[in-house]
Amino acid sequence: MVGVPIVWILGGPGCGKGTQCAKIVEKYGFTHLSSGDLLRAEVASGSDKGRELSAIMKEGKLVPNEAVLCLLAKAIADHKCDSKGFLIDGYPREKDQGAAFERQIAPADLIIYFDCSDEVMVQRIMGRAAASTEVRADDNEATIKTRLATFRTNTNAILEQYTEKTITLNAERSADDIFVDVQRALDCLIQKKAQAVASA
Ligand code: AP5
Repeated sequence: MVGVPIVWILGGPGCGKGTQCAKIVEKYGFTHLSSGDLLRAEVASGSDKGRELSAIMKEGKLVPNEAVLCLLAKAIADHKCDSKGFLIDGYPREKDQGAAFERQIAPADLIIYFDCSDEVMVQRIMGRAAASTEVRADDNEATIKTRLATFRTNTNAILEQYTEKTITLNAERSADDIFVDVQRALDCLIQKKAQAVASA
């Protein structure tokens, strides 16, 4: 068992998951584990596994779940003793991933879903690519189309599975306005967890 809050951060490519996670880390000191960042670190390591993953990610498709879950499980184990809470960003991306996580690691306490139109997500990714000196291999028009299609195909099935613990936020507002709602949800979760510990 993990013991501290586990929050899944979901939403399409470029909806602002990483941006909100950075704000949460700053305010709450949670451990931010982005599935995409963990996979990119594996690719950067130059391993054979990384080469396989890189080819799939360049196409905007989902890598096999064993690869992602194994990286997440290791990162959670590494921080288990000192973490105030875990933000699992970009996972699950399909129904079976959620079930595997809850079976092998721990149940999620809260799911925050950032709802955003494809048009806004494309604009944001292209804006990030234009502003950055290191453009991601999947931040190009063709791959963004596949990333969006992959996301739209899988997401409803995930959300339907977890209606009681999911909050959906309009992600087409300013990052600060969205964060007001994020804080409300996290404050409530932290209070609930503390009450559960006190009454145990
Ligand atoms: P991943 O790295 O997770 O990428 P993604 O989901 O496509 O999301 P991004 O990182 O591009 O965007 P974001 O939502 O974090 O937005 P950000 O905050 O940067 O995954 C990459 C690939 O890895 C996948 O395609 C897949 O191949 C593989 N993968 C990952 N997880 C997997 C899994 N579980 N299973 C299998 N494969 C997996 O914001 C974007 C831009 O918008 C920034 O410039 C930001 O400044 C701006 N912005 C943010 N919020 C706002 C706002 N409110 N208003 C205006 N601008 C904003």
